Amino acid sequence: MSNKKRLFTGLQPSGTLHIGNYFGALKPFKDVCGEYESYLMIADLHALTSVRDAQLLRQNTLDIVRDYLAAGVSPDDVVIFKQSDIPEHTELAWMFECLVTVPFLMQAHAYKDKVAKGMEASAGLFNYPMLMAADILLYDADIVPVGEDQRQHIEYAREAVTKFNNAYGETFIAPAEMILESVGVVPGTDGQKMSKSYKNTIPLFGTRDEIAKAVMSIVTDSSGERPQHVYAIHSLFRTAEELEALYTEHAGKYKNLKEALIEDIETLVAPMREKREAITDEVVRQVLLDGAKRARDHAESKMRIVRSKVGIVD
Ligand code: ADP
Ligand code: TRP
Repeated sequence: MSNKKRLFTGLQPSGTLHIGNYFGALKPFKDVCGEYESYLMIADLHALTSVRDAQLLRQNTLDIVRDYLAAGVSPDDVVIFKQSDIPEHTELAWMFECLVTVPFLMQAHAYKDKVAKGMEASAGLFNYPMLMAADILLYDADIVPVGEDQRQHIEYAREAVTKFNNAYGETFIAPAEMILESVGVVPGTDGQKMSKSYKNTIPLFGTRDEIAKAVMSIVTDSSGERPQHVYAIHSLFRTAEELEALYTEHAGKYKNLKEALIEDIETLVAPMREKREAITDEVVRQVLLDGAKRARDHAESKMRIVRSKVGIVD
């Protein structure tokens, strides 16, 4: 066992990655994971709260692992596994659900937002935070890198720790969130937050043509000579000094600036795209199989302790 601290994070397998995901989540994860004993879990059970298409879920699960591998996350450094491969997650979630109250879960943003929009929330969505608490606590994680939108979920996990430890004695450790906000929010082609729900994305693994098309569609309604949205995305790729020179040279020539941005995106993406093409489904399945083996070791020994504490085994 290493004496490194343990880092745990989860990803919903929810479709094609865009450069907002890359700079907001993937790259920061890649940059820190080596300093910790790291776990990366594909949250396929959480995805059931929104995905109803079995084939799509299967495909997205393989693809997200492929994307992370192609972007340079190595299974030698990180335990990469699928939530549903370890049944202890749902078992522990149930135990937490028996400890926290309904009014407490009613405060969760994801649930409240859905209800506020007049939609019916499933019981799965309602209990979502306790499954997430189980994910984290099963591995005694010290630190959980997540986006700002997930901060509340880590608070819920800490509450589960308190409730359980008060009822049954010291068993779990309280995790801390690591908010990945180094780049802030990456804007999309329309200047709003880049998000697949807004259809304003630049795909991370797109072909050159797809990337060019997305960049050419960036809205340039700037009143000055500098197209703000192009510049904002460009600043992920180059320093302020480099951009100063480029944007001065091409002042007012939006097409040239967009072409320069396409080149910079392409320089990042092309090698990853090539690597991705070589990662077969078989390779991905093997990575998940190996990851599940390593995750299971920890989850099973932790749950033996937990089952005994709650009194369902001797
Ligand atoms: P989307 O908004 O496209 O549905 P997700 O919610 O699936 O993206 O986000 C997955 C991860 O990528 C999260 O950690 C989130 O914080 C990060 N992320 C998504 N969009 C952006 C963005 N525009 N800027 C920075 N980070 C982002
Ligand atoms: N809810 C997280 C998201 O949508 C995904 C997730 C599931 C997760 N389990 C986790 C993140 C455990 C961190 C730790 O982004």
